Amino acid sequence: MAYVIGVDCGTSGTKTVLFDEKGNVIASSTIEYPMYQPKNGYAEQWPGDWANAMINTVKAVMAKSGVNKNDVKGIGISGQMHGLVLLDKDNNVIRPSIIWCDQRTEKEVEWMNSNIGREKLVSITANPALTGWTAAKILWVKNNEPENYEKIAHILLPKDFLRFVLTHEYATEVSDASGMQLLDVPNRKWSDELLSAFEIDKNWLGKVYESCEVTGTLTKAMADELGLGEGTIVVGGAGDNAAAAIGTGVCEDGKAFTTIGTSGVVFAHTSNISIDTKGRVHTCCAAVPGAWHVMGVTQGAGLSLKWFRDNFCNAEKETAKYMGVDEYYLMDKQAETVPVGAERLLYLPYLMGERTPHLDPNARGVFFGLSAMHTKKHMLRAVMEGVSYSLRDCVEVFREMDINVSDMMACGGGGSSPLWRSMLADLYNCPVKTASSKEGPALGVALLASVGAGIYTSVPEACKAVVKTDKTQAPDSAKVPEYEKYYQLYRDIYPALKEQFAKLGTL
Ligand code: XUL
Repeated sequence: MAYVIGVDCGTSGTKTVLFDEKGNVIASSTIEYPMYQPKNGYAEQWPGDWANAMINTVKAVMAKSGVNKNDVKGIGISGQMHGLVLLDKDNNVIRPSIIWCDQRTEKEVEWMNSNIGREKLVSITANPALTGWTAAKILWVKNNEPENYEKIAHILLPKDFLRFVLTHEYATEVSDASGMQLLDVPNRKWSDELLSAFEIDKNWLGKVYESCEVTGTLTKAMADELGLGEGTIVVGGAGDNAAAAIGTGVCEDGKAFTTIGTSGVVFAHTSNISIDTKGRVHTCCAAVPGAWHVMGVTQGAGLSLKWFRDNFCNAEKETAKYMGVDEYYLMDKQAETVPVGAERLLYLPYLMGERTPHLDPNARGVFFGLSAMHTKKHMLRAVMEGVSYSLRDCVEVFREMDINVSDMMACGGGGSSPLWRSMLADLYNCPVKTASSKEGPALGVALLASVGAGIYTSVPEACKAVVKTDKTQAPDSAKVPEYEKYYQLYRDIYPALKEQFAKLGTL
């Protein structure tokens, strides 16, 4: 039997899973690390934390599984998108990574719009200038930390830094590189025009591959440390969302998924490139060679619930420990006791600004309609509903673009909550399915590694062989109109507060 490893470098932690060639989980290990917020709107992590987590989780799965190292045929890496990793000429990390949800680059985005122009940016990168994307962050370092900028010899994305640790290759692949705002997305290669406009040296960037191509092999030192064979292949892998698409079988037109991880994403595969001219959803290269995807992103999805848990749910944490259950399970149970609409309490999940549909780095979270009768469980339900309303916003944009999202999968931590899945089914008014494997991105990149290792001949073939659907949550016809009333009110709240959010940002 052949085996493959999928590594998923997320925002809350890195998860490594060893799969057999049929996609069965043989062993899994996760290590968490902090996110630093030195200022309101900033978000940073240390690449060294990611590397340690990857090394220790790979070692752990190899030790737990007892699988012979020569039977592990390949590694795929998935990761949080858009993060900026800067290395100097000796490969030292220059500063903490400015990660995807950081919103400090409003001025750089204005500069990009006025000096390059929105239309030009959309025609090359398939997306308007975005505060969380990598190019704006590079310009921010240039404008604010010239001493760091001068040292730059290599620019990598989070998972591509891990690739460097494994193989000593500077490389990336099309799905994640699409989120740098430096890639010519229709033609799947670096844009010389934009690199020269931004004065970014092409030699700083890695070579661009398709996601299932082999980008290098483990160095001897790394193979020895990890307990793997020297020469084990490392494929391109994918940004976490493109990876989750493969892991949930979203690799042909008509298929879509919603993931609730730290961010929330609604993602649809498109065999032809499709661009929202208003820039509300992103268009990126898919991990399927020659295909693309569109995705709507809400910045603070699972992040909102984690924020609520960490600040207000210590009692639930203790009880969960005592009962030996997950704390989110207990939180779900409490939220279930509150009716649709949380008795007239709404939540806007804009803790880290918002992308789809507002593209507003100044937006912030709001509880709307708080009354003395509300309790913690109402707030909990309102948080889950507010995230679901923001995901419905993404679906609305897709519907406007005529993108079919009727075959909808759910994944990510939030996708495993039956309550959250029922909210999505009722708000989208379509069935929401889960895959029998819960490993989304890790399985997706393991399948890419299987293709790179020759176990399967193509990405769709690997998906068809391995990914199976499990439960289907149908919409509840009584609840659909109830949610609709609250959703329509939710849509009115942001426009009413837009100016005040901007003022708040200046205080
Ligand atoms: C996608 C995005 C997030 C991150 C973190 O554009 O920013 O989904 O990839 O998961």
